[in-house]
Amino acid sequence: MKRTKDISILASHLRAGGLVAFPTETVYGLGADARDDNAVAAIYAAKGRPQFNPLIVHVDRFETAQKYGVFSETATRLANHFWPGPLTLVLPRVENCPISLLASAGLDSLAIRVPAHPLAQELLMQYGGPLVAPSANPSGQISPTKASHVVAGLGDKVDYVLDGGDCAVGVESTIVSCLGDVPVILRHGGLVRGDIEQVLGFEIFDGADAPSAPSAPGQLTSHYAPSATMRLNATSLQDGEALLGFGDIGPLQPKISLNLSPKGDLQQAAANLFAMMTRLDEMLDEGDVKKIAVSPIPNHGLGEAINDRLNRAAAPRSRREGSDQKSSGQDK
Ligand code: TXA
Ligand code: MG
Repeated sequence: MKRTKDISILASHLRAGGLVAFPTETVYGLGADARDDNAVAAIYAAKGRPQFNPLIVHVDRFETAQKYGVFSETATRLANHFWPGPLTLVLPRVENCPISLLASAGLDSLAIRVPAHPLAQELLMQYGGPLVAPSANPSGQISPTKASHVVAGLGDKVDYVLDGGDCAVGVESTIVSCLGDVPVILRHGGLVRGDIEQVLGFEIFDGADAPSAPSAPGQLTSHYAPSATMRLNATSLQDGEALLGFGDIGPLQPKISLNLSPKGDLQQAAANLFAMMTRLDEMLDEGDVKKIAVSPIPNHGLGEAINDRLNRAAAPRSRREGSDQKSSGQDK
């Protein structure tokens, strides 16, 4: 990984679908174009996340954020007061939202923030597009607050880090969900609760400390799951099944099918996963086939996250609702 202060190099690397680490006022982020499924899949691969934990979209200003998320009155008030700054808002995705579904981990919501760090601002401006940026550390490790931490953690998995010295805040952004009637704190972070309450004029519900509270995304909004039933590890086709394939599907001749990665590449499969589940469901809506068989996916590398998500999507509805990611709102 190269340390650099040359933002134009980073912007062109991002344009080519690459990953760059950059400083924000909270912690260093690992950035990629938020509209590019492949680039987002590369982030999960670099971090080695066992699950597709949804990512935060970073934009240059409030007006840009409005292109991607639906702002309630409360969300607008919080954005006006605290952006740019260490506050992330979870909002409904706008209709036909161009942000990668993989970035939302298949949820119909979106986490978004405007970082205050001048170099992050400069990068977003020069790049001219939305960046997803989880903390720039391998999954399960501590979030980096210096460029040297990023180099030590991610090494040759990432080409560039924009060196901005130490992060002033040093802990991640505070995450507030604005999906329901009342705002809920999903993760405590750099913006303290009292400051938020002062602006709102009322106490804010704390979903981060209450395990039974609606902090998991699946309880706040529905995880994307196809309306068709799904059968995993399918090596043959039953009557009336569509196929979500992976790799060479051999002699199978499905009437309706999509292939996550004909060449059997897990990163490509991850990039396609949510978009193809959505597309297959739409294709099935038009016909009478209501079952999807899914090819076996090797359970290593990104395959673990893909299989985790497929298992959730294939679970009976009651189990599915009770078994959504409980981890949201926590650093991963
Ligand atoms: O300060 C920060 O927020 C840093 C810097 C780089 O901006 N980023 C960061 O990202 O901490 P990350 O990926 O480490 O944490 C993202 C958190 C996760 O806990 C995730 O579950 C939550 O945001 N999140 C993202 N989208 C969500 C959604 N739609 N609903 C609920 N939680 C969401
Ligand atoms: Mg993190």
